[in-house]
Amino acid sequence: MNLMPWPKTLVPGAGRVRLAADGWAVSGAETRRLAAAARRLQRHWGDAGGLPIVIRCAASAALPALGDDERYRLRVDAAGARIDASEEWGALRAFATLAQLVDTDDDGAFLPEVDIEDAPRFPWRGLMVDVARHFISLGALRRTLEAMAFHKLNVLHLHLSDDQAFRFGSDAHPEMATPGEHYSREALAALVRDAAARGIRVVPELDVPGHVASWLAVHREWGLGDIPQRPSARFGVHECCLNPDHAGAMQAVEALFGELAATFPDTHAHFGGDEVQLPKAAGVAALQARFNAGVTAMLKRLGKTPMAWDEALHPDLPREVTIQCWRGSAALTRALNAGFNAVLSAPYYLDLFYPADVHYRFDPATGAGPRLAEDPRFAHVRQGLERLERAWQRTGEALPQAAERGVVLGGEACMWTELVTDELLHGRVWSRMPAIAERFWSPMREVDAGAVRDMQRRLAASERQMARAGILDLAADRRVGFGRLGLTEGDIQALTPLFDALEPVKWYARLLGPAALERRAAGVGEAGAARPYDAATPLARIVDVIAPESAAARALAFADAPALRSAAAGWRRQRQAFLRRRGSVPAIAELDAASAALCELAALVEQHLDGAPVAVPAALLAPFGEYVLAAAHHLAKRFA
Ligand code: ACM
Repeated sequence: MNLMPWPKTLVPGAGRVRLAADGWAVSGAETRRLAAAARRLQRHWGDAGGLPIVIRCAASAALPALGDDERYRLRVDAAGARIDASEEWGALRAFATLAQLVDTDDDGAFLPEVDIEDAPRFPWRGLMVDVARHFISLGALRRTLEAMAFHKLNVLHLHLSDDQAFRFGSDAHPEMATPGEHYSREALAALVRDAAARGIRVVPELDVPGHVASWLAVHREWGLGDIPQRPSARFGVHECCLNPDHAGAMQAVEALFGELAATFPDTHAHFGGDEVQLPKAAGVAALQARFNAGVTAMLKRLGKTPMAWDEALHPDLPREVTIQCWRGSAALTRALNAGFNAVLSAPYYLDLFYPADVHYRFDPATGAGPRLAEDPRFAHVRQGLERLERAWQRTGEALPQAAERGVVLGGEACMWTELVTDELLHGRVWSRMPAIAERFWSPMREVDAGAVRDMQRRLAASERQMARAGILDLAADRRVGFGRLGLTEGDIQALTPLFDALEPVKWYARLLGPAALERRAAGVGEAGAARPYDAATPLARIVDVIAPESAAARALAFADAPALRSAAAGWRRQRQAFLRRRGSVPAIAELDAASAALCELAALVEQHLDGAPVAVPAALLAPFGEYVLAAAHHLAKRFA
């Protein structure tokens, strides 16, 4: 069975229950929410039904909340499916399991007989989408909700403002909203309703007092530091912030958070608080503490639980603030010891192009996981990783120890969108998110090599299931993406062995570019090193379309001899195809060296199959511009 997340307990039966063509016959879905969910199941699996599904559960509150009862039991036998849950929330999770259980064989669609008892490990299972760096459409956010529900995620965190844009269509301050690319309050309220129908909370964030170049471009008088004339297209930390001692600025903050609180009914409201910097660093911590005192008091008056990134930790910060830890496990320990409840995000940054197993190996309760600097796949960014690890271990001033330790509420993956547009969002998120969703939901497990392979098998299945259920089709999206770059179906087919061998470079190597990466690794700041990307740079290259992790390259680690020989043959063929197209398909020109290197790799594989000892040369393991030859990395491990 290919469930993801894997349930708490699962007892398989022997039989297969056939699904006829006349729809599910759901009974007991008496609330509007469950009736709608039953209709969605029907729509997804329209040609696979006829099976009685009996649901028993009590109605839930109008809105999902932290700590809701999401337990359910799902039994499938010859008589049909039976769902028992204390509340609707559990029944919705059972529906997700049911949708994933549908399988096909030569005789058509079926459900396996099974008895599942399930409940989440953590109450907070989130995905943050940065809708500021690139505008993400409401349609894409709705799709995101569907895919989240399919994987039992229950918090969508919207990062609504940053240096580059302000996406909240405020009525009190309409001048703030980025023209043409923001959400009205009505549209956001509708999104919240759609989320609630799926048992998903929406937590909004306005990031203050730093990351506000877009605010200060409109209201210079509210700010301190190096204030830009226009909302900034530049990425990286900006040295400006809101002035906590300016009455007008604080009134605007209060008005904006008031509207935010009215638009988003969730208990939590996020005020950011990360990376506050000024040209003269001195005094920033005190300034931020003063600002945070003001904003947390406002949020409490609005009846909200304030939430902030871990930089907000300070001896004066009220203990009711929930801390989102992004700077390593040290930040998590610090928050918990000081009595703050926390959500862990550090190991779950989806913008770093990491393979799924990297995220999967980290435990959300502790932040414990592998040392990435020792992973050969990340050798090209090792120095940067090591420097950051060291910096994060000495982050922040001492905090008073609390009598009662804080609680880890769960985890939240973060999709920062410097290098992600509306078209690219789903491929960037869902290539790895199901694996993370499993860590947030399923019982704690030791992640050994076998567990990773099992996860990878089910991750691939989840991609197929989402396509079949009409939620997302990542493979089809990639073909559309290549098409946008001017490639024909024939080009794509001929060059697939090349595209499948490649992955984007890891960590911040793309975002920073070689010069800034080197300076950051050396710990000397970025001054004078131009970055290759800003918010206006078109994301229209092969590297934007290929998956963060290549499943085909990963399969080389376990491929048998005929499969290896066939891969090598494909690598030789792609070279011929590449050389024929190089002049006529501009998008592939930058892949010349990688394409040639793949021929070298083919020769190595052939020697290996002939019984000769081989080693993959360092040149094939180093980046090719913004690409790594993932195939070479998997073979290097195999040959070693
Ligand atoms: C962050 O990544 N600056 C929260």
